[in-house]
Amino acid sequence: MAELLTVARGLVKRYRKGSEDIRPVNGLDLEVREGELISIRGPSGSGKSTLLHLLGGLDRPDEGSVSVGGVELTRLKEAELCKFRNENVGFVFQVFHLIPVLTAFENVEIPLRLFPIPPARRREQVELALKLVGLSDRMKHRPNELSGGQQQRVAIARAIATDPKLLLADEPTGDLDERTGEEIMDLFLALHDQQKKTIVMVTHDLAKAALAERQLYFHQGKVIDAKDAPAPRQRAPRQRAAESADILSPGEGEASA
Ligand SMILES: Nc1ncnc2c1ncn2[C@@H]1O[C@H](COP(=O)(O)OP(=O)(O)O)[C@@H](O)[C@H]1O
Ligand SMILES: [Mg+2]
Repeated sequence: MAELLTVARGLVKRYRKGSEDIRPVNGLDLEVREGELISIRGPSGSGKSTLLHLLGGLDRPDEGSVSVGGVELTRLKEAELCKFRNENVGFVFQVFHLIPVLTAFENVEIPLRLFPIPPARRREQVELALKLVGLSDRMKHRPNELSGGQQQRVAIARAIATDPKLLLADEPTGDLDERTGEEIMDLFLALHDQQKKTIVMVTHDLAKAALAERQLYFHQGKVIDAKDAPAPRQRAPRQRAAESADILSPGEGEASA
């Protein structure tokens, strides 16, 4: 069996919402093995993005621990965490976050600027990343000269340019039309199959989630096997109307009890 890459134990993240404390991540355990492709689904606002931020060291947990490649992220000081993240974790978001005045090449080069490698080697790595996402012929284009799908490809190239241990994708097809979304999904599958990338992907899309070899579901602050996910609520309009009528006029039995 492949080595463990990422281990989260007893993760808790708290936020204050008005007067109440919420815990979008609440006692979560997760193990990710090298080379795995994991999908995570779950309701909006359940804590999926919060979890990805904790796994990648973009945010720190209130309790628990996260390690990536044997390095305990919670023990790192801010500057060390920043360096670790830049070298070991790639993020892809729903919005592409490209810098508009820079070309595709320059956008992908950003994380490599902090690397102590000679310029020729850096150029090679940028070109390789752009080749892997199928954009070798668009290196000099600026984001506004590229389609949405191409912009997301640039963002993916930027995320893999440093050859990170862990690739985290948060609804990466959420802003794309159906067909482009499928192409981007195919790209992630290829990065997994051919480049052996370890990928944790959050997606709303059932069909895309089902393409992952391991499918998880975010439920009450933890991740569970998607097979055990609560069934989606599909109530007929007629039933809904009946239920609200009950609320308006409570049953006789209860009133007299
Ligand atoms: N920085 C923050 N400050 C306060 N509350 C937050 C913050 N980030 C997320 N939350 C809250 O945590 C919960 C989970 O959010 P999120 O992880 O973005 O959910 P998801 O990605 O599953 O839609 C939500 O209730 C959200 O409002
Ligand atoms: Mg989210």
